[in-house]
Amino acid sequence: MTLAKKLFVKTYGCQMNVYDSARMADVLTPLGYAPADGPEDADMVILNTCHIREKAAEKVFSELGRLKRLQAAKAAQGSRMILAVAGCVAQAEGEEILRRAPFVDIVLGPQTYHRLPEMVAQAARAGGAVLDTEFPPEPKFDFLPDARAEGSSAFLSVQEGCDKFCTFCVVPYTRGAEYSRPAAAVLAEATRLAEQGVCELTLLGQNVNGWHGGEGWGLGRLIRAIARIDGIERIRYTTSHPRDMQDDLIAAHAELPELMPFLHLPVQSGSDRILSAMNRGHDREAYIRLAQRLKAAQPDLALSSDFIVGFPGETDADFADSLALVREVGFVQTYSFKYSPRPGTPAAAMERQVPEPVKEARLAELQTLLLEQTNVFNRSCIGREMRVLLDRTGRHAGQVLGRSPYMQPVHVKAAAHLIGQVVPIRITALHPNSLEGVPV
Ligand code: SAH
Ligand code: SF4
Ligand code: F3S
Repeated sequence: MTLAKKLFVKTYGCQMNVYDSARMADVLTPLGYAPADGPEDADMVILNTCHIREKAAEKVFSELGRLKRLQAAKAAQGSRMILAVAGCVAQAEGEEILRRAPFVDIVLGPQTYHRLPEMVAQAARAGGAVLDTEFPPEPKFDFLPDARAEGSSAFLSVQEGCDKFCTFCVVPYTRGAEYSRPAAAVLAEATRLAEQGVCELTLLGQNVNGWHGGEGWGLGRLIRAIARIDGIERIRYTTSHPRDMQDDLIAAHAELPELMPFLHLPVQSGSDRILSAMNRGHDREAYIRLAQRLKAAQPDLALSSDFIVGFPGETDADFADSLALVREVGFVQTYSFKYSPRPGTPAAAMERQVPEPVKEARLAELQTLLLEQTNVFNRSCIGREMRVLLDRTGRHAGQVLGRSPYMQPVHVKAAAHLIGQVVPIRITALHPNSLEGVPV
């Protein structure tokens, strides 16, 4: 018999980390770990970290400072709190974490989560820290349990790693080479999620549209197969790279009502000079053509993007090209970031780094434009009929909340028994952070 213990996982960064955190909790369940409400009542805490920008990475060290005090307070009461650091900071700065925070028990990279039970056993037995930031030859997916459903929408990792080496980015170093899970494994996991009541799947990967399954299997074909699974009504995928957008995947947008007409397709910059310095592998024109082809295949399609401002050498004219591209493509949603130099990446060593105040001003200008466009899009939804996945009760009696195909939160006066269903809704009003609608 195992003794009941409690685990708290804190997740930073992207959706792949959200998926991974749930899998880490799953591999620890057989060891007797149940979810804790917070670090205070946990016997083990895992920080699943993100290294993408300096701020993200520094957060980990301040959180570790707080956890150190908690760990010491517990030790004074005679109980032990195992502290683990996982994710991309662990991969990039494993030794440095143990040097700066010697009270950490386990440091593990994103490709070794399946070995976590062994590491916990080792940490519980011995003093001294366990460090595992290998890129093992065996894919962790072969040893991790399938995702479990929590509600009607679920993430499913199908691809991991990146071979693109954009000059600003740490991901190829922290996640390793591109790896595609076999189609059969993905379809089996999707089927089990559907059997547990999931009707919306979001396929995840650092370059999800780079997924390939051999013998003519690309992401388009995988999505067609998933769409045939009983109970799956909506499919999304993220994050895509413009260079990997195959014809077959574009065709899937035209064919499949299950494939949501909302695509996150980061472009990063609208300037050809900067795109080339970033090693993105395509120019502005190629991106615009791609956006046109996608919208031709699916006229309801809306695009979202990521932008970086203040990449080394970015001039006012380059930045103006980014603003112009935002207008020309008509992005309805965008995440924008100030360039953050990352140790070991080529861009960090480039000349003509952009001063912080310039980055700040550009970010503010870009975000103002993007917000305007998001608002215009949201207003254009009033009067439209949309299929909304109702997924939880609202704050007010008789109110149910859901997500539109475009991920907009929608609140509806409807009966709670509709939760878990995709329901046609007429959008009637726009609120600051949501849409309102009525069942059709
Ligand atoms: N694989 C995805 C994105 C991964 S990182 C892609 O290729 O688009 C998520 C976003 O973080 C990126 O799209 C980029 O906009 C931003 N980002 C990555 N490195 C950054 C850096 N050094 N500074 C600022 N933003 C960065
Ligand atoms: Fe990073 Fe570029 Fe790979 Fe995206 S494609 S993860 S931005 S290196
Ligand atoms: Fe961050 Fe790693 Fe994801 S650096 S964005 S957690 S791949």
